[in-house]
Amino acid sequence: MSTAPLVLGIESSCDETGVGIVRGETLLAHEVASSMDQHARFGGVVPEIASRAHLEAMLPTLRRACDTAGVRPGDVDAIAVTSGPGLAGALLVGLSAAKALAYALDKPLYGLNHLVAHVAVDILDHGPLPEPTMALLVSGGHTNLLLVRDITSDVVSLGETIDDAAGEAYDKVARILGLPYPGGPSVDAAAAGGDPRAIAFPRGLTSGRDLERHRWDFSFSGLKTSVARWVEARRAQGLEVPVADVAASFAEAVADVLVRKAIDACRAHGVTDLQVGGGVAANSRLRALAQERCDEAGIGLRVPRLGLCTDNGAMVAALGAQLVARGRPPSSLSIGGDSSLPVQHVTM
Ligand code: KG4
Ligand code: ZN
Repeated sequence: MSTAPLVLGIESSCDETGVGIVRGETLLAHEVASSMDQHARFGGVVPEIASRAHLEAMLPTLRRACDTAGVRPGDVDAIAVTSGPGLAGALLVGLSAAKALAYALDKPLYGLNHLVAHVAVDILDHGPLPEPTMALLVSGGHTNLLLVRDITSDVVSLGETIDDAAGEAYDKVARILGLPYPGGPSVDAAAAGGDPRAIAFPRGLTSGRDLERHRWDFSFSGLKTSVARWVEARRAQGLEVPVADVAASFAEAVADVLVRKAIDACRAHGVTDLQVGGGVAANSRLRALAQERCDEAGIGLRVPRLGLCTDNGAMVAALGAQLVARGRPPSSLSIGGDSSLPVQHVTM
């Protein structure tokens, strides 16, 4: 009989209702209900719609996860839940469910950081995280370079985006190209047949004074504008837009900057392992380029399987299990959601 902690994790910070069950470093169940389709016609997540969808999906998702794992809620050692950052109303639904479970079952509650959970999830695929690890977190709302010395207590943000997140840039470029929401997967698919060197789109904050002042920060707003101008100019000339080439050249620019800075940060901090997490880690060009350049640099690369890159409950359970295993204190039942929870706050 294993003594590793059995933890149930709940995620509801954006448009995915996720429930995961983990024993130590082993994934037992991972169920996700997404309200993405309901947001598609608005071209972005509508917070009120997301909150309502979480309410409807929470109990069925919870039941499915328990059935899949073959555990009863009363069997778990702790309940973990995303308490930030994210949409306030959406966070509240997950927090309320987690608090109700913790209270009714008399189990400890861990309110934890969504961003750090994106890093922790990789433990389920590749085992214990080397510490220190450099983590490149790329999602719809965030782009951060994190120095992780202890996944439960010591996560430092070295740099972040000064404007758009990488995923946000993908979503905006999809709109420019007339591709469906969410933009990440559709631009990724469109890029498959394109030439990544067709158009030299800018690499933000990678040269001169910008690089000096923002060595580990990112900027994707200029890139997005550059794509928009290029496409507009083409249309103004009455020419067809080579969607595959634009998508591939854009994907190349994003991946190039992300990987370049991540490897520079590894070298500067003497860190030999890089972990890439968050929804944009599902991007095929980013995965390939990161592998290529990490191999050249002698850096170990860890990227979770696609289904664990985007938001889910398993990531929350994975981080919760680490917190329990390392004897970190649980949260109070009175915690609230914090829509802008800083990344260095691993728990609430
Ligand atoms: O981590 P995530 O599921 O939610 C947030 O916490 O934001 O990330 C969602 C983001 C979206 O912007 C989506 O377009 C992007 O991840 N994404 C991708 C891919 N799949 C999802 N971006 C690029 N390529 C993909 N294959
Ligand atoms: Zn996320």
